[in-house]
Amino acid sequence: MAISVPEYDGVTLEQMYDDPYPTYAMLRKDAPVAWLKPANIHVVTKYEDIMQVERDQETFPSYDNRSLMIKVMGHTLMRRDGDDHKRHRKSLERTFSPVSVKRHWKPIFERIADEIIDDLYDKGQADIFADFAAPYASRCLKEVIGLPNMDWQDLSTWSQAFMDGVGNYGNDPETWARAKAAFEGIDNAIEDHYDGLKANPDYSALSSMFEVEDPIDMADIRANIKVIVGGGLNEPRDVTCTIVYALLTNPDQLKKFLANPALYKTIFEEAVRWVSPIGMYPRKVSKRVEIGGAILDEGDALGLVVASANRDSDRFENADKFDIDREKMAHIGFGAGPHFCAGTWVARAQVGEIAIPKLFERLPNLRLDPEHESKFGGWVFRGPLSVPVVWDA
Ligand code: HEM
Repeated sequence: MAISVPEYDGVTLEQMYDDPYPTYAMLRKDAPVAWLKPANIHVVTKYEDIMQVERDQETFPSYDNRSLMIKVMGHTLMRRDGDDHKRHRKSLERTFSPVSVKRHWKPIFERIADEIIDDLYDKGQADIFADFAAPYASRCLKEVIGLPNMDWQDLSTWSQAFMDGVGNYGNDPETWARAKAAFEGIDNAIEDHYDGLKANPDYSALSSMFEVEDPIDMADIRANIKVIVGGGLNEPRDVTCTIVYALLTNPDQLKKFLANPALYKTIFEEAVRWVSPIGMYPRKVSKRVEIGGAILDEGDALGLVVASANRDSDRFENADKFDIDREKMAHIGFGAGPHFCAGTWVARAQVGEIAIPKLFERLPNLRLDPEHESKFGGWVFRGPLSVPVVWDA
C-alpha cells in the first residue's frame, strides 16, 4: 500500500557535503522516496524510480517557477519541456554533434592539453585539480561557448558561482551575490563578442544559436550560455580528477589501462557512475502520483539523486567500488530522457579520449603525492577538490 512520503532529517547539509553516500544507501533501503528536510526537497534515490520519472515528462516536467537555476541563470533549455525544449536543443546541434566533436573540437582540446602539460612537466608535482583539470576544462569551454578571448580564471570563477547558486538550497546570501556577479560577467562577455561572431560564424554554441534557422530570443541564448558555463566546466574537471584518483588508487586497473589504452571509454563511464559530478537534479510533480511506494502531490519539488541511483545495488554489483571490469550496465550520470546531457560527446572526447591518456603517457610514473592527501566534497555537485600527484620529471 502506498504511504505518504517519509521525512528524513538525520543528516546535516555539512555531512551531505562531506560524504552523502551512507545517507543514500540508507534512503535506498528504508525510504527510497523521502522528504530530505535539511534540503527542503523530496529525493528519489533508486535507479528504477528515477527512470520512471524520466520516462514521464508530463507528470514530471523540468519547468518549475521556483527553480534555483532559473533564478540564477534565466530560463535555460534545462528547465524547458516538449517542443519548446526541442527547439532550444536543436539550436545547439552544430556545436555538440559527434561529428563536430571529432572533426572540430578534438584537435583544439589536444592542443590545450599539451600546452598545459608542457608547462607542468619540469615541476615533477602538481595538484591535478588546480594545475591541470581546472585550467583545461575552462580553456576548452571558452572555445566551445564561443568566448575564446575570455580569461579562463574568470570563466572558472563564474562557473563555480553558477553551480553554487543552483545548489544553494541553504539560501546563503553571499552565494546569491556571487551568482549575480557571474550573470553580469557572462552577459558583458557576450556583448563584447557579438559583432565578431556574427561576422565570422564558427562551431561555438553562441554561433550555433545565432545562425540556426528560426533562432531563439537573445535573452534565452544568454541563459543557455550560462547553463553551459555551469554544466560544461565543473563536470569534465571533476571527472578528470576522479579518474586520475581512481586509477592511482587501483594499480591493477591502471596496469590494464596502460596495456590497453582503448579502455579509456570504459574508464570514463565507470568514473561518471562511481562519483557522478551532477549528483542530483530537479523535476516538479504536476499531478498526484505514486512512486517508490510513496504518494507525491501536485506541486512537490523532486530531486533525482542520480549519484545514488548509480550506486544502487539492485543494478550494480559492488556498486561502491570503482571497477572497470564490472558487467556493462548503463548509468544515468548524464541524465536520461529529453534532457540527456547535450555535452556528452564533448566530455567523452575532452576527458576520456584526450586528457586521461595524455596525462598517463606524458607524465612518467605518475602517482599520488604521499605527502598530501586527496580530498572530495559536495553532494548536489560532487567531485575531488584536490588530487596532489608527483611524477619522474
Ligand atoms: C562528465 C561530464 C558531464 C556530466 C556528468 C554531465 C551531466 C549532465 C546531466 C546529468 C544533465 C541533465 C540535467 C537535467 O536533466 O536536469 C546534463 C545536461 C546538460 N549538459 Fe551535461 N554533463 C557533463 C558535461 C557537459 C559538457 C562538457 C557540456 C557542454 C560543454 C554540457 C552541457 C549540458 C547541457 C547544455 C545540458 C542540458 C541539456 C538539455 O536540457 O537538453 N555537459 N548534463
